[in-house]
Amino acid sequence: MPSSKRSKAASLTPAFGQEMNPGTKEGCSPLVVGGHSFIAELGNDPATGFDEQLSIVNECLDQGINTFDTTYEPERVALGRILESLGRRDEARVIAWNFFVDENTGDYFGGPQAFRETHIERLLSQVRTDCIDMLVVHPVLDDSKNREQIEIARSWVSSGHVRELGTWSPGNDPATQFGPQNPYDFIVTPRNIKTPHTEVFRSCKAIGCRTFATSPFNRGWLLDQLISTGIKQSSGKQEDLRARIADGLLRFAIHHPHVDHLIVGIRRKEWIDSNLESVRKGPLSEEERQWLFELLGQTEATGKRE
Ligand SMILES: NC(=O)c1ccc[n+]([C@@H]2O[C@H](COP(=O)([O-])OP(=O)(O)OC[C@H]3O[C@@H](n4cnc5c(N)ncnc54)[C@H](OP(=O)(O)O)[C@@H]3O)[C@@H](O)[C@H]2O)c1
Repeated sequence: MPSSKRSKAASLTPAFGQEMNPGTKEGCSPLVVGGHSFIAELGNDPATGFDEQLSIVNECLDQGINTFDTTYEPERVALGRILESLGRRDEARVIAWNFFVDENTGDYFGGPQAFRETHIERLLSQVRTDCIDMLVVHPVLDDSKNREQIEIARSWVSSGHVRELGTWSPGNDPATQFGPQNPYDFIVTPRNIKTPHTEVFRSCKAIGCRTFATSPFNRGWLLDQLISTGIKQSSGKQEDLRARIADGLLRFAIHHPHVDHLIVGIRRKEWIDSNLESVRKGPLSEEERQWLFELLGQTEATGKRE
């Protein structure tokens, strides 16, 4: 590492005697709060107010949900502020990514940007911490930038500013993709009944990566589609059907031998108990699974006809 890089990293190292935040491989809860809970876009409209966000994060921590994802930059800023306000940063595990506001347009939903050395200061100050528990290095389109960004991310692990590295949605052969010097401790991949990615989870576990599934409701679109199919066949209340389908989707996503954690948006307090209950209930029965997949089949058949 060139000396300029080393001195930059060293200047960020916590002072002697200053506690690093806890966070072991085993320390993350099965449920992870998705960062879209803290922003208005991507289906979470209207925005949840700051007081409500404080209350949700507080309640999650009280109930043992201690891990929080922050994909987009405003999510990092929001979570950093919430954890500091609650004084509970040390109890939380935070996942951060290489998504940044576009300097030209101010847009924060653009694609990932390759990590640069200066980014660590920004990540730490936004999360209001001295160490990011888990950093996702989302690949960009340029291979040389990918090689460079993983080296930068590794230097942050060496300097103590990042605890673990992960990546986004690898293919079915991560052993070849990551190479013998696999830099990743964990992976994040969508998982729902439409796109289960079962082989990705199996092969990542086989090379020792911890696995995070995400988007059991496919940002709510899948949930809404299944409800609109199901309601035509049901004489019950729509909210009962919604709860039953949401429970099925969550249990399908999380209860698999190769899935360790599930990231899901929680922007209402009432979802905390119901989501925890879904985790407690365990895998779907054959009957429940059949019902859910029949609903999906009917939904897809309707989609093709329209
Ligand atoms: N796919 C990706 O690219 C990606 C990458 C990284 C992270 N993530 C994370 O994954 C999360 C997305 O999860 P998701 O797509 O499954 O859905 P979601 O965005 O968490 O939720 C979508 C819809 O489901 C409803 N809902 C949530 N929990 C419910 C429950 N227990 N019962 C009934 N309805 C419920 C929400 O209702 P309300 O609006 O009423 O709350 C919302 O309308 C995001 O928070 C994001 O941070 C996704």
